[in-house]
Amino acid sequence: MRKHIVAGNWKMNKNLQEGIALATEINDLLKAEKPNCEVIIGTPFIHLAKVSEVVDHSLVAVSAENCADKASGAYTGEVSAEMVKSTGAEYVILGHSERREYYHETPAILKEKVHLALANGLKVIFCIGESLAQREAGEQEAVCKAELEGSVFHLTPEQWKNVVIAYEPIWAIGTGKSATPAQAQAVHAFIRGHIAKKSQAVADQVIIQYGGSVNDANAAELFTQPDIDGALVGGASLKAPAFAVIVK
Ligand code: PGA
Repeated sequence: MRKHIVAGNWKMNKNLQEGIALATEINDLLKAEKPNCEVIIGTPFIHLAKVSEVVDHSLVAVSAENCADKASGAYTGEVSAEMVKSTGAEYVILGHSERREYYHETPAILKEKVHLALANGLKVIFCIGESLAQREAGEQEAVCKAELEGSVFHLTPEQWKNVVIAYEPIWAIGTGKSATPAQAQAVHAFIRGHIAKKSQAVADQVIIQYGGSVNDANAAELFTQPDIDGALVGGASLKAPAFAVIVK
């Protein structure tokens, strides 16, 4: 049995004080009703150290939303995987479609980021997924395959233990238009099947989250699908009560 993981992705929302308040509220709700899945909150870099201090890490893990593709040095404005790890964070979200699209992160750059994250003891939530035009052209499987092969396919079974895949169709992100459970399940099964071509053991254990307009009303039905092992939640992770309902 694979465990489920519900992860929040705050994106570029909440100032430091608001972020601490939100993390505290989420922590309190989870303390009152212990989750039967793993819970992660993904925050901007500036929140990581403080949020790591205020949450109980036996209830909720902390994730960055990005890290640099270089280990250290003269890269003004960048934050390394080692720095992320030193805040107390356990995870980093890599390959989010917003990073790929707006910051031109290529599969090769993401491969470097994944390597550095794992080498510094971080677990990776690696995002893949097709655009609306690609979905309309029936290319969702080809896109997922290429994104997997471009950045994570080469990893060893040992490294895969620290990788979570998030299938996030771009047309479902922030649109209020989630993939249906059947649409998501079909791609999750394809992803798991493709990973099985490399290693059946890895395919059986890898956690594949769905992301894209998951909320407190549609999460339960998505989670009934056999290959959907949780969710990566954007908008609905900014409200502690809604996030707690998804966790529940
Ligand atoms: P959303 O975002 O839940 O607001 O659609 C999901 C994501 O981008 O991770």
